Amino acid sequence: MSNSLFRKKSLTTILKDAQDGLNDGHGGMNKVLTVKDLTAMGIAAVIGAGIFSTIGQASFDGGPGVTVLFIITAITCGFCALCYAEFASRIPVSGSAYTYSYVAFGELAAWVIGWALILEYAIGNIAVAISWSGYFANLLEGLHLHLPAWTVSNYDSATPEILANAPHIFGLPVILNLPAFFIVVIVTYLAYVGISESKKTANYMVALKIAVILLVIIAGAFYVNTANWHPFMPNGFGGVLKGVSAVFFAYIGFDAVSTTAEECANPQRDLPKGMMYSLVICTVLYIAIALVLTGMVSYSQLKVTDPLAFVFTAVKLDWVSYIISVSAVVATTSVLLVFQIGQPRIWMSMSRDGLLPKAFSRIHKRFRTPSFATIITGIIVGIPALFLNLTIVTDLTSIGTLFAFILVCGGVLLLPREEKGASGGSFRIPYISSRFIIPVLLLVAGITFRHQLAERLTFANGWADIREAIPFIIFLIATAILAVQCVIHKLSLIPILGLLCCLYLMTEIGARNWEVFGVWLVIGLTIYFGYSRKNSKLAKGPAVAKVDHLA
Ligand code: ALA
Repeated sequence: MSNSLFRKKSLTTILKDAQDGLNDGHGGMNKVLTVKDLTAMGIAAVIGAGIFSTIGQASFDGGPGVTVLFIITAITCGFCALCYAEFASRIPVSGSAYTYSYVAFGELAAWVIGWALILEYAIGNIAVAISWSGYFANLLEGLHLHLPAWTVSNYDSATPEILANAPHIFGLPVILNLPAFFIVVIVTYLAYVGISESKKTANYMVALKIAVILLVIIAGAFYVNTANWHPFMPNGFGGVLKGVSAVFFAYIGFDAVSTTAEECANPQRDLPKGMMYSLVICTVLYIAIALVLTGMVSYSQLKVTDPLAFVFTAVKLDWVSYIISVSAVVATTSVLLVFQIGQPRIWMSMSRDGLLPKAFSRIHKRFRTPSFATIITGIIVGIPALFLNLTIVTDLTSIGTLFAFILVCGGVLLLPREEKGASGGSFRIPYISSRFIIPVLLLVAGITFRHQLAERLTFANGWADIREAIPFIIFLIATAILAVQCVIHKLSLIPILGLLCCLYLMTEIGARNWEVFGVWLVIGLTIYFGYSRKNSKLAKGPAVAKVDHLA
């Protein structure tokens, strides 16, 4: 029995556990996904609320310069995708970053990452459901069907008029986002009945949304007035950086592909490809969209929740605007579907390891899906979607996902070298030594951004400034420690760059979100030490660490 705080599963054990599961004629999941499906699934998860909704506020704050943020974020996600790809290739089991951390850092970190991934998948889906509801209401408006405002709003965003017109129970106004709730119910049903059905649905939705995004880019290009691109950064680089959370949110999802490892025909070869292809395709589309959007109207008009539809109404192309509203509904549905499929599979892996109750790894006898976990996901996403506001959930999702990405990048650096090749995996990150490159890069960045650095470390307003600076100070300390490690251990450059970029982006999401995230982690640790640690299969010794996913 292992009591170490940092007890780990070896790579070989995890692969054997999963193999036991996969070879089990009764409990194995359907292995139907190919590179094409995985790429489609990546795109299905990525293109959604971010590009259809949150990009509006980001463009308003950053102006045309938001394009630069799309490039920076794509590069960051690219580094992380390479790390995910190496992990997915070496550990082709369902748990995604959770399983990867189990090998690299041990059980405690694995639990923390599994807990943080709930922010990406379940909480992220709350944001997507809210955005879906907004576009759905637009769509109905186009058909002259009006939903009462109190059924498509939330307490934070409701105007005094909505509050006054809402029904009251015990004197309190009832404000519920009903479409957000119902779409979660429908998507949960799809995720419950099977991966094949979900796959087909996702593929159709992806084809439609790519077609519409291309329509926006091509039709919009004719209406671009290059004068709108000047000034490129009307509120400086600071204005651009305000959009970090929204733009990063737009990229979240390529990693969701890695949760379907056990449903892939050839996961080691296909998962890395699926992730990279979907990321590259989305990046190209996003940069083009950002340029078109900020070229068609002045950035100052873009503070809207339906920016893509809005710019076409602005140039009097109402029919394009309507097509966009329809497809935004479809696009966000496919995001919902992928995340609603991903979350239960992470819980399934955690349950197999004993960190969650057995019911979470129960596979439905007929549908071959993690049935109980899928229903719980539906409840956890559907109920808050009735009440919450979009920005709160977007920020929390972005910070949690960046944290998960940091652990994945760090985890690749810690993968046990002696076991390299043990999985027969086919993808490896090209090794470039960071020994000289990182110190030189940091020196150049320090000199180039010396004024911004000094500004961020000036505390004219006392505690308020210090509080805001804490994330950045953590970033500086972590960077210094990493730089020393790079020089001493010649660490691999790509994971280090991924790690530093994610940590930096996290510092741009604001101290308040760090605090909420901190509370989330404390709750997670309480559950770990109260339940999971005692029930972990590792606590009972490696001999019983066998997978039992037909519980
Ligand atoms: N990237 C996904 C979206 O924008 C989460 O909806």
